[in-house]
Amino acid sequence: MSDNYTTDDAGIPVPSDEHSLTVGADGPILLHDAYLIEKMAAFNRERVPERQPHAKGGGAFGVFEVTEDVSAYTYADVFQPGRKTETLARFSTVAGERGSPDTWRDPRGFALKFYTEQGNFDMVGNNTPIFFVRDPMKFQDFIRSQKRRADNNLRDHDMQWDFWTLSPESAHQVTWLMGDRGIPRSWRHMNGYSSHTYMWVNRDGDKFWVKYHFKTDQGVEFFTQDEGDQMASMDTDYHTRDLWEHIDAGEFPSWTLHMQIMPFEEAKTYRFNPFDLTKVWPHGDYPLIPVGRMTLNRNPADYHTEIEQAAFEPSNAVPGTGPSPDKMLLGRWFSYPDAHRHRIGANYKELPVNSAHATTVRSYSKDGQLRHHNPGDPVYVPNSKGGPHSDPLVAGPQAVWHTDGGMVRSAYASRRDDDDWGQAGTMVRDVLDDAARERLVTNIVGHLLNGVTEPVLLRAFEYWRNVDKDLGDRIEAGVQAQQNEKDPKAGQQANPARTSAQGKA
Ligand code: NDP
Ligand code: HEM
Repeated sequence: MSDNYTTDDAGIPVPSDEHSLTVGADGPILLHDAYLIEKMAAFNRERVPERQPHAKGGGAFGVFEVTEDVSAYTYADVFQPGRKTETLARFSTVAGERGSPDTWRDPRGFALKFYTEQGNFDMVGNNTPIFFVRDPMKFQDFIRSQKRRADNNLRDHDMQWDFWTLSPESAHQVTWLMGDRGIPRSWRHMNGYSSHTYMWVNRDGDKFWVKYHFKTDQGVEFFTQDEGDQMASMDTDYHTRDLWEHIDAGEFPSWTLHMQIMPFEEAKTYRFNPFDLTKVWPHGDYPLIPVGRMTLNRNPADYHTEIEQAAFEPSNAVPGTGPSPDKMLLGRWFSYPDAHRHRIGANYKELPVNSAHATTVRSYSKDGQLRHHNPGDPVYVPNSKGGPHSDPLVAGPQAVWHTDGGMVRSAYASRRDDDDWGQAGTMVRDVLDDAARERLVTNIVGHLLNGVTEPVLLRAFEYWRNVDKDLGDRIEAGVQAQQNEKDPKAGQQANPARTSAQGKA
């Protein structure tokens, strides 16, 4: 007799791992083979729906240690001097499905969960400091344009460039995406940014606008388009494997957190709208202030329960932190918990990976599907029966701001230096060197030649000329040269894109 025998999910010993119950060896299977049915039913329900965006990813656990003193800006426990906090990180691509290659050109998700003594604090960022759109009304359309067509279920560059060129606010992020950082060499070799502006508040109630920058201690490294393409066919899961193997070998990757901090009042007069997600705050205006280091040192033991079912949400904001008036961020405040309730279930915060690790939950939520622990009586508040009561002194000064005005549907009020092209142009001219600019041109030309048609193609040339005249001219010339090479006669046909280019040459 073995003491390691198989049971069913109720713990009952099963008579066979291999044979279903039949009437005679060649006879039909019996419906009352409950174990066979349990196996088939459990298998059919193994997948939770994949995340709508950011479906493909991997992650690991670690620690965040504060090495500096930023208590003048926030009283959040996780940022107090010397504090060490258990951390979970999940990295992901945005557009691809769960099995898609890790090395496709795409922004990368950089989602963090800090298990703090004030509850779980999530920083759900990307490896880019900016985003494609600035109003949550456009997010769904943007993501659909990156995914698959309705008719043939294919990804389609024409649809991507159609959306981008009709959305000039995307230019900064598309420049970033088409540049070197659009395919990181590994997750260990990329930075993570909050992208959004958030609020910090200190014990005295002083408020600050802040941006988080997690800078990789491994250095930023990238794959060229060719390297990324080759890796996509050689090892679909290259980034997942790279993270796992380095942590497994004891080579723990780390990131140093720096903050940009803007005094509350300065937001009113800053030359860029500081809440516009398509803009950075130039470092010269708001230098990076070091805070501490995040180190990933533990691989998950169970991918499904610890990574696939991990639920990150910007709305997990602990005392001392909070949102800003960034419309995208406020949209996300709603969207993520809603996604989790759909994808994982109403009680997703009861799963060990999503539950509080360093404090006790004393909420009044109860019951619902798969609830396995209820707080008990009293089930209501206010009560005189010893149940928890909110305490403003514990909750501390709140991250709030004052606003008024009529209800409108409009873009942000524009500032002196606000426009859709300026910061993208600065990146092209002042940040990239000649070789990086050349790769940017090559990447964009290659992307456009992959199925982009008129009138989108013509708009794309203008889009890039708005970012930088020389860049746009080089892109148009590059596309033309390759089109002519493929089909020399095409250059003589009445193609509006070519006619326009010849006219301007
Ligand atoms: P800085 O010269 O101080 O900063 C430029 C930053 O650009 C670098 O610090 C680096 O960010 C980042 N960078 C370097 N190479 C690349 C690349 N190939 N692709 C993307 N980013 C790269 O100038 P400013 O702060 O005045 O910003 C100038 C422009 O730089 C901005 O318009 C923006 O496009 C870009 N940028 C600015 C960032 C910011 O937060 N201010 C962050 C990233 C880009 P890092 O140090 O984070 O690696
Ligand atoms: C994932 C919505 C903008 C970073 C998701 C998911 C949704 C979503 C529904 C899937 C969540 C899940 O099922 O677990 C939105 C909306 C946005 C927006 C509505 C704008 C209005 C952004 C921005 C960033 C970002 C600007 C980065 C700064 C991420 C990351 C994930 C994600 C990292 C994956 C989280 C994980 O690893 O589980 N987003 N998103 N999103 N989003 Fe967004």
